Amino acid sequence: MTETASGTGFGTDWRAWQESWDRQQEWYMPDREERFRVMLDMVEALVGPEPRVLDLACGTGTITARLLARFPGATSVGVDLDPALLAIAEGTFAGDDRVTFVTADLKDPAWAAQLPHDSYDAVLTATALHWLFSEPLAALYHQLGGLVRDGGVFLNADHMPDPTTPRLNAADREQRHARQAAARAAGVLDWADWWALAAQDPVLAGPTAKRFEIYGEHADGDTPPAEWHARTLREAGFAEARTVWSSPSDAMVLGLK
Ligand SMILES: C[S@@+](CC[C@H](N)C(=O)[O-])C[C@H]1O[C@@H](n2cnc3c(N)ncnc32)[C@H](O)[C@@H]1O
Repeated sequence: MTETASGTGFGTDWRAWQESWDRQQEWYMPDREERFRVMLDMVEALVGPEPRVLDLACGTGTITARLLARFPGATSVGVDLDPALLAIAEGTFAGDDRVTFVTADLKDPAWAAQLPHDSYDAVLTATALHWLFSEPLAALYHQLGGLVRDGGVFLNADHMPDPTTPRLNAADREQRHARQAAARAAGVLDWADWWALAAQDPVLAGPTAKRFEIYGEHADGDTPPAEWHARTLREAGFAEARTVWSSPSDAMVLGLK
């Protein structure tokens, strides 16, 4: 029997897949949990502890898991296009009626028609919208302007390097890559390693093959700076928008309707 992250093959250990996904993502972003903490602080401050949330490009449902652990009265709709990550998300939250998942392509202008609600207290997303180029991303922000209720909030934590500081960016990149190389040498999985493991899993092999047909390794997109995100959100109907967290390469931008 093949040994995989899901254990011995008798049933799939969704928790183990969640944990290996988290370790892989943290290899790129050691401050990932800090982003989620600030994200949920802003949710609580602006819309309270029982929000209806849209977890946009949810992957394995990482944000939904943190949301429900902190706010048990919240509900969440996760939307994504990746059948393997959605399989892990659906397995993890099976039987939890606070959570719904929708398969949709955020580049499809009609994607929001598949959602179970017209309006959300909070739309939350992390490490995902850089898979879109700026033009479709701006179109998506305009759609979100209609999906977030007045007084509601949008938060996007993602790679948002500042193009005005190229030497600073290069030094940061060099340091990050050195740290990643050391962790990799110690056995941490990167993106390609993780997907190779998923492809060996009896349950995830099929959906993994499909996600490579959809995306290849991953989709190409842009990483505009935080200022672009804030400006585009204001143009999309958000009354206030600005950075609420940042690292040398990444930021979290909040739009308040
Ligand atoms: C790096 S993962 C991040 C997932 C999750 N937010 C997290 O923090 O772990 C990027 C996610 O964006 C999703 N995604 C990218 N482009 C998309 C699109 N056009 N429509 C729907 N989902 C998309 C991918 O399928 C993937 O699940």
